[in-house]
Amino acid sequence: MKRQLHLNLFIHSRGHHEASWRHPASSPLALTDIRYYQDLAQKAEAALFDSIFLADQLALGEDVAQAARTWLEPITVLAALAVVTNRIGLIATASTTYTEPFNLARQFASLDHISNGRVAWNIVTSWLATAARNFGGAAQVSHADRYARAEEFMKVVKALWDSWAEDAVIDDRAGGRYARPDRIRPINHRGDFYQVAGPLNMPRCPQGRPVLVQAGSSDTGRRFAARHADTVFTAHMAKTTAQEFYADLKALAAAEGRAPDQVLILPGLSPMIGSSEAEAQRMAHEINDLTDPEVGRKRLSGRFGGHDFTHLPLDHPLSPEDFPDPESVEAARSRTEVILNLVRRDKPTLRQLLGYLAGARGHLTTAGTPDQIADLIEDWFTDGAADGFNIMPPLLPAQLEVFGTEVIPLLQQRGLFRCAYTGETLREHYDLAWPTSDFQETALQGA
Ligand SMILES: Cc1cc2nc3c(=O)[nH]c(=O)nc-3n(C[C@H](O)[C@H](O)[C@H](O)COP(=O)(O)O)c2cc1C
Repeated sequence: MKRQLHLNLFIHSRGHHEASWRHPASSPLALTDIRYYQDLAQKAEAALFDSIFLADQLALGEDVAQAARTWLEPITVLAALAVVTNRIGLIATASTTYTEPFNLARQFASLDHISNGRVAWNIVTSWLATAARNFGGAAQVSHADRYARAEEFMKVVKALWDSWAEDAVIDDRAGGRYARPDRIRPINHRGDFYQVAGPLNMPRCPQGRPVLVQAGSSDTGRRFAARHADTVFTAHMAKTTAQEFYADLKALAAAEGRAPDQVLILPGLSPMIGSSEAEAQRMAHEINDLTDPEVGRKRLSGRFGGHDFTHLPLDHPLSPEDFPDPESVEAARSRTEVILNLVRRDKPTLRQLLGYLAGARGHLTTAGTPDQIADLIEDWFTDGAADGFNIMPPLLPAQLEVFGTEVIPLLQQRGLFRCAYTGETLREHYDLAWPTSDFQETALQGA
């Protein structure tokens, strides 16, 4: 069989375009209505997507007056999605900076049990400066410290997920024995940031461990992904930078002793699909006309750690000097680089830059026919830029439906995408090896 594409649906607001929330074709449901998310997950499952994904930020956006900035807490949402779907993988974001590893290991293990092995965790270190203010400190934890903490966090959660052997529960009612204590062990972790005795207070989860997703693209972020991630989300506006990222991350994974095909790389793609190219362009212009540049200006400021862009006129060409040095930004390094590369390359005006970022915040946006979208996907997939895509429909649910009914059949005809689910778990959809716990070995050594 040909190498197969992996497709994730990134659910965000009423679509990824900044103005989607006010577009007449977007969902009429409130962004706090669980039926909205359940309907999208079921539609994605009907279209045979590998997974759906929910992002998260730990602070209210400053532009809530003119932009839909409300959503539900993702771990809670996944529980509600797990019970109305059967096969599709479910990915929620949670922060290593602002939670405790014991809580997180328990929440994701619970979700993996609830969903019968379909859960993944998008590991973030939380780049938003305003998030720090909601967690006791006024100052943001630095980029380097966030990753140092995340590294220790991973060690702890993995040990907790491995603290129960698969055969620990016997549930022998007649014999009066529920579990075998020799198959459950403490972790006794004492590190710089965490002290955790363990074991976890629940049996090993169906996937062994939840699937791990990561999306850091800075040097530190890439090395972290190469060590821990099964799947990597990334943002690129051009195939060349996606190819560079793909080659680099696969090499870093190999250097960590991992098989490169066990780290899937899914760049974002936000396609506006029409029955003709002209129609797709018209729809893209129509939604762009609904954007408010002042919302974009505030978002840009958030991306650059709160930098003040208010003095910049909208219609003057930008230069890199209009931006702070990326090295001084404690927020998300990689996206600041994507934006600066665009400024260097195209010298857009601020209005043009904000227009571009309104589409999908620095991910690839395109407008075209189903054939054109399928061609682009096949080209990146076969030319060393992607193992699949993080699909970010500009308008939900309308553009997800079109993708499912018009683009996916083309990918299936080309032999690139499944025609039915063959596995039950997300690990199987992603073709990932089963994680081995060192429990057996250590238990024997200790015996
Ligand atoms: C598709 C995608 C989704 C992301 N989702 C989140 C998110 O939900 N919450 C968050 O804080 N960061 C999110 N990020 C940001 C990254 O996880 C990462 O924190 C950021 O890129 C900073 O790390 P870096 O400096 O190593 O790039 C996302 C990035 C990408 C590409």
